[in-house]
Amino acid sequence: VLVSRIRNFSIIAHIDHGKSTLADRLLQETGTVAAREMKQQFLDNMELERERGITIKLQAARMNYTAQDGEQYVLNLIDTPGHVDFSYEVSRSLVACEGALLVVDASQGVEAQTLANVYLALEHNLEIIPVLNKIDLPGAEPERVKAEIEEIIGLDCSNAILASAKEGIGVHEILESIVHLVPPPQETVEKPLRALIFDSYYDSYRGVIVYFRVMDGNVKKGDRVRLMATGKEYEIDELGVLSPTQVPLDELHAGEVGYLAASIKAVADARVGDTITLAAQPASEPLPGYTEAKPMVFCGLFPTDADQFGDLREALERLKLNDAALSYEPETSSAMGFGFRCGFLGLLHMEIVQERLEREYDLDLIVTAPSVVYRVTTVKGEVLNIDNPSTLMPPQEREKVEEPYVQVDMITPEEFVGPLMELCQTRRGIFKDMRYLAQGRTTLIYELPLAEVVTDFFDQLKSRSRGYASMEYQMIGYREDNLVRLDIMINNDPVDALVMIVHRDKAYNVGRALVEKLKELIPRHQFKVPIQAAIGSRIIASEHIPALRKDVLAKCYGGDISRKKKLLQEQAKGKKRMKSIGTVEVPQSAFMAVLRLD
Ligand code: GTP
Repeated sequence: VLVSRIRNFSIIAHIDHGKSTLADRLLQETGTVAAREMKQQFLDNMELERERGITIKLQAARMNYTAQDGEQYVLNLIDTPGHVDFSYEVSRSLVACEGALLVVDASQGVEAQTLANVYLALEHNLEIIPVLNKIDLPGAEPERVKAEIEEIIGLDCSNAILASAKEGIGVHEILESIVHLVPPPQETVEKPLRALIFDSYYDSYRGVIVYFRVMDGNVKKGDRVRLMATGKEYEIDELGVLSPTQVPLDELHAGEVGYLAASIKAVADARVGDTITLAAQPASEPLPGYTEAKPMVFCGLFPTDADQFGDLREALERLKLNDAALSYEPETSSAMGFGFRCGFLGLLHMEIVQERLEREYDLDLIVTAPSVVYRVTTVKGEVLNIDNPSTLMPPQEREKVEEPYVQVDMITPEEFVGPLMELCQTRRGIFKDMRYLAQGRTTLIYELPLAEVVTDFFDQLKSRSRGYASMEYQMIGYREDNLVRLDIMINNDPVDALVMIVHRDKAYNVGRALVEKLKELIPRHQFKVPIQAAIGSRIIASEHIPALRKDVLAKCYGGDISRKKKLLQEQAKGKKRMKSIGTVEVPQSAFMAVLRLD
């Protein structure tokens, strides 16, 4: 293919604004996928993704398109995940493109997530083509949304395309705009090979399948390649394009997008953002922008049944093959027994992993509340990263505790500004900026401790704005604060899995609320169960769960054996997702109680 006939682009859109529907249309219109073989939304093919209606893994599709000028073009669509947890992956797939379609729902408007990705695209000098989607809806207001895009992003919308991905309106125009507005890749075939990895996944037969964009030079089947971040070398067994299923080819040139298999064992060996070069004639410099995935949120995973520890380890090993950002190490808890401390990019990433462990590996797990990574300086001057609150040393051994802060950008209809400001205030937020946008919408910017965001901030934002507000956050660094360790005792046993690090000013209220919540969540036992919260040796809240008066079997007076069995079975069922702490049965919900205190 002539480089001048290649167009590489991605689609930037807020969740539900119609990215997948439009991608499907483009594949259909170019004859890449016939309508009848079209699964419901080809690009989002993970089951979990479809269920949650979000895009997690990115993929790519190559389309052949004969434009109105009579020439044949190759259009490579590179899909991007739609969630803040995966913004690094988004940035790498944008770097692989020269242009992007900015899809905005004409009945809604610009959202925080759209903004973040548009800024990423502008940073990398991508040509952006605004597309106002869903103009078939009676509530569509394309003119208002155009004005909004111009005002917020400063993007000229005079040539914005009015489209309906659902009805197929504007699709032809979009294809023509891609051909005419998105610049072709640069002609750098003569340079040493540099290919950018923008996605990879593990295949049990061929090893890791790497999706990449050739930035410079060319690459052939059988080539010995080196991954520049790890220094490891592999021989390419298979190479090809995605149209959108894998079609093997012998060679790919600068500007092209494709996949390769080279018996790579785990995706961690072919990380997104890494540069592929030739072992024989390596490039002198890797492509810029490679970063190691850094887990931001940690939690403990414990099997309810200690016998499942080995299964859990195996499942984590398997998931890790396909998820470079997941980290885990064994953890021993005096309350919970053996389990793993796991690190995730964010809350969504955490939920996805948990769900897969339970669903695909059939594990019954207790998950402890998420924690951020604290930076603790000891009196000896050592600096430690603490991702497990129960390992925080007593106050006399530490000099200071710092916690990660994020900048949170929200976009909301004006009427919810009050409730959202109140939310941020109760979460120790620092007000930074507020701007009125077109048509009664407002951007609100706050700095917040990440710890206050990983608890149910997003759910709160949604419920306080009746679903209308959107948000996005980015790390801005560590700050010192007056943070203390809050311990919880159940039946006089300290429970390490319930230790929290909280701000001193909030400790009393959090302790009280947590103790009350635990009283609600932990079932009654044959004996009285005291529950207490403490800072150091000082008890700040105390409650107890009264003893049960009768035992369950006492009801089966007369000894009807089948009825007795049934009762025992019901009890056994109810025991799932319970953990015995000492002699007290504690349900999963208790470990997450801290997320539901408001
Ligand atoms: P994520 O994958 O979650 O990022 O969402 P998405 O942006 O891919 O949105 P998707 O294509 O799944 O569309 C969301 C919803 O909007 C679906 O119910 C679509 O049927 C609907 N939709 C998409 N395009 C149009 C359109 O042009 N008009 C109308 N009326 N509905 C549309």
